[in-house]
Amino acid sequence: MYKIVKAEELAKNIYLMEVEAKRVAHSCKPGQFVIVKLDEKGERIPLTICDYDKDAGTISIVFQTVGASTQRMAELKAGDSFRDFSGPLGCASEFISESLEELKNKKMLFVAGGVGTAPVYPQVKWLHNHGIDADVIIGSKTKDMLILEDEMRAVAGNLYVTTDDGSYERKGLVTDVIKDLVNNQGKKYDVIVAIGPMIMMKFVSLLTKELNIPTIVSLNPIMVDGTGMCGACRVTVGGKIKFACVDGPEFDGHLINFDEAMKRQQMYKSDEGRAILKLQE
Ligand code: NAD
Ligand code: FES
Repeated sequence: MYKIVKAEELAKNIYLMEVEAKRVAHSCKPGQFVIVKLDEKGERIPLTICDYDKDAGTISIVFQTVGASTQRMAELKAGDSFRDFSGPLGCASEFISESLEELKNKKMLFVAGGVGTAPVYPQVKWLHNHGIDADVIIGSKTKDMLILEDEMRAVAGNLYVTTDDGSYERKGLVTDVIKDLVNNQGKKYDVIVAIGPMIMMKFVSLLTKELNIPTIVSLNPIMVDGTGMCGACRVTVGGKIKFACVDGPEFDGHLINFDEAMKRQQMYKSDEGRAILKLQE
């Protein structure tokens, strides 16, 4: 059993939980994810790691209630436990394998959309802790939905916040900020890392292809076993089949077939809908 040591609602329907998982905390790296299970018969829920404390042996996860399982998860409190907490799964962020010398000469921009801010945070924090301050854009629908702003400000070089409705800081989408930084402010980036809803990653990748900036995205498709056996997380990258759980979750954004990936995600949503109906029976 994996004990929850902290549970808090960050914004409406978005929760942060800190969970005791010593082995995962000891070996995880930014970019990796875990698969959690509430109980013996529970659905396996893949979640990117938002933070980790190797000394305390804890992992922070952030999730949004999108279906029956995440709704049940949101009801857990500090002191409750998860039945399973498997990880770390997937590959660590690509930049971790580069030398610090190389990284210090690289100008990086992270683009975080909504709940996708959670998986961006450990990457920017890791870079900050190694003396590299990357620029970060956070896009949120409204001021109320914005998460981890203070935490990100503490580790980012420059932080640009934008809201779709203009209720806080700038008004507009993350792509508007990228255009402003690159076209109007003359910022030059060697690589952009974009993590958020699939539609955001698609449009960021289309824009950065035009701007000729290499772009990494982190996919969170349907996952079942998380070990490359079931095929649920299949995505097409550069015309080749890849499994997000073992080959990813990070991929070259310019090579992903986003339309196919979004169609598969839609299928998942209807399964979730069925699960909610079952709970209400
Ligand atoms: P959201 O809909 O609030 O979008 C966040 C930001 O993305 C917006 O503020 C906007 O700036 C940008 N955006 C959205 N559509 C865009 C478009 N068409 N063009 C340009 N920019 C656009 O995000 P949310 O509600 O937090 O998203 C939830 C989704 O994020 C879920 O589907 C979840 O699966 C996904 N998610 C993905 C990851 C990941 O690892 N990729 C992690 C957590 C959540
Ligand atoms: Fe089964 Fe990736 S989740 S192959």
